[in-house]
Amino acid sequence: MNNAPIGFLDSGIGGVTVLKPAQNLLPDESYFFFGDSANNPYGDKSDEEIIARCDEIVNMLVNEKKCKAVVLACNTASAKAAEFLRGKYTLPIIAIEPAYKMVHDLNPDGFTLVMATRGTIESEKFNRLYYKYNNNKTVLLPCAGLADLIEQNRQEELRAYLENLLCGYAGRAENVVLGCTHYPLAKDIIKDILGEIKFFDGAQGVAKRIKSVLAEKDLLCGSGKQGRVEFVDSSADEGMRLKKKERFFELLGKY
Ligand code: DGL
Repeated sequence: MNNAPIGFLDSGIGGVTVLKPAQNLLPDESYFFFGDSANNPYGDKSDEEIIARCDEIVNMLVNEKKCKAVVLACNTASAKAAEFLRGKYTLPIIAIEPAYKMVHDLNPDGFTLVMATRGTIESEKFNRLYYKYNNNKTVLLPCAGLADLIEQNRQEELRAYLENLLCGYAGRAENVVLGCTHYPLAKDIIKDILGEIKFFDGAQGVAKRIKSVLAEKDLLCGSGKQGRVEFVDSSADEGMRLKKKERFFELLGKY
């Protein structure tokens, strides 16, 4: 039995959409979630900046928080920093990617929108995935600024942004890949605009992967008791840190 927490990182509260299915699957594990909102958005940063920032955070998760595994609950960080982090640290580093293969497996003939940050869409890692499973009926939508609107809960601007981005695809799109961990928090609005669509995101796959990696390395907690969830945000302002924490736990409760 290993009681050490599983560390999660994202540029903000979006990674809650990855933590929740992990917690559902592994309720007795404890989780330490780090939201790096002092440095968001990650989507517009260079590879070097993302790697350096993720390195600092993982170092803290490993050495101060004594995490037994780290989950990159951010598609951008996964696309740009996972390889580097796996080369440097010995603990399991679990990453997420836009669920484009799921479209190939489940509804390959459907007209598909892939929504992600610019950083993810331009990354080598995503491009390898895209060219491997390309159904030739896919539009890639780099959504600059979208994660920020969700992070800051600016509902009116969020709706206006999504209407402007998506209205031309209403009635045509069948599949929507949510390739940023913030975007599932805007599912209702996306559905309002596009009508009946299938959503694809990688969170469920990450939860299963955490379980199998921990089992393989004999790191599962297996206490049979509910684990703890701790949340820390990197904002300089204390009021902001508290606000983020409240919203995170509210989302964790209802997502
Ligand atoms: N949640 C992050 C992702 O999955 C990124 C948001 C940002 O741009 O900071 O890509």
